[in-house]
Amino acid sequence: MDQSLPSRTALRVALRRAAHQIYDSPVVFHDPIAVPILGKTYAEELDRTRFHLEKPFSVALRAFIAARSLYAEGKLGQAVARDVTQYVLLGAGLDTFAYRNPYPQLRVFEVDHPATQTWKRDLLLQSKVSATGSLVYVPVDFERQSLAEELTKAGFDSDAPAFFAWLGVVPYLTLEAFRATVKFLSQRPADSGVAMDYGQPREVLPPLEQLGRDSLASRVQLAGEPFQLFFTPPQIAGELHAFHSIEDIGSEEINTLYYRGRTDELAARGQSGRILSAWR
Ligand SMILES: C[S@@+](CC[C@H](N)C(=O)[O-])C[C@H]1O[C@@H](n2cnc3c(N)ncnc32)[C@H](O)[C@@H]1O
Repeated sequence: MDQSLPSRTALRVALRRAAHQIYDSPVVFHDPIAVPILGKTYAEELDRTRFHLEKPFSVALRAFIAARSLYAEGKLGQAVARDVTQYVLLGAGLDTFAYRNPYPQLRVFEVDHPATQTWKRDLLLQSKVSATGSLVYVPVDFERQSLAEELTKAGFDSDAPAFFAWLGVVPYLTLEAFRATVKFLSQRPADSGVAMDYGQPREVLPPLEQLGRDSLASRVQLAGEPFQLFFTPPQIAGELHAFHSIEDIGSEEINTLYYRGRTDELAARGQSGRILSAWR
């Protein structure tokens, strides 16, 4: 990824969350900041996405993106119920949780590439959106910097449990950067947890889905953020050996949880995308 430019994939994901608020009914992931954060700057682009919304691949991707945010915030709720007071968004992109945080005691840390964070802060200023509670921005490049050091500098309490969201990030990392982050997560105290998503390797996907993967891979490559890392469920479970209660769900479970009984086509599809949570 070009270090000086904000993440294009963060914008694409945010556009899909915004489209979900406007065009899907009923909305499953309610995010009243999803549209405002895009501001005038991207209103036109949001309007243009209308023409692609009903394409099956687009519907399925939007359903997955809405589901993973809903899932992560649901698990965060469970962590908060266990008195966890730190929430860290790894690769936060244009995630809006901090600007609608309902938990007064929760300290939020947004970790992201410096350029993406600067761009987000500009958008927030333009849209006059501010955090509802405590929020600290932590600029970090997972490939080059120590997450532990930067979080500590930012006031993160390493002795206290924390919940982490790591959404839409893993496929863009090298195995080395992934493992360094997992090592840090594995060292968190009891009651800490993580919600994340990941994709399965191309070779385990059915032929039609391989074509969908190829098309998405070439688009993110063009955006300067090539896919690098995929796992099968047993592989990722191996990487997360220091955690317990790993829940790893695919399209079928996602649809049972969030998209049952709809009269439109909004649903997760295929075998690639999976959502996972794990606890210390
Ligand atoms: C597809 S976006 C997802 C953003 C957000 N989590 C969401 O769900 O809307 C990927 C995010 O990962 C971040 N990212 C990718 N590689 C990174 C790295 N090496 N260090 C820090 N952030 C990274 C990008 O800046 C971007 O915000």
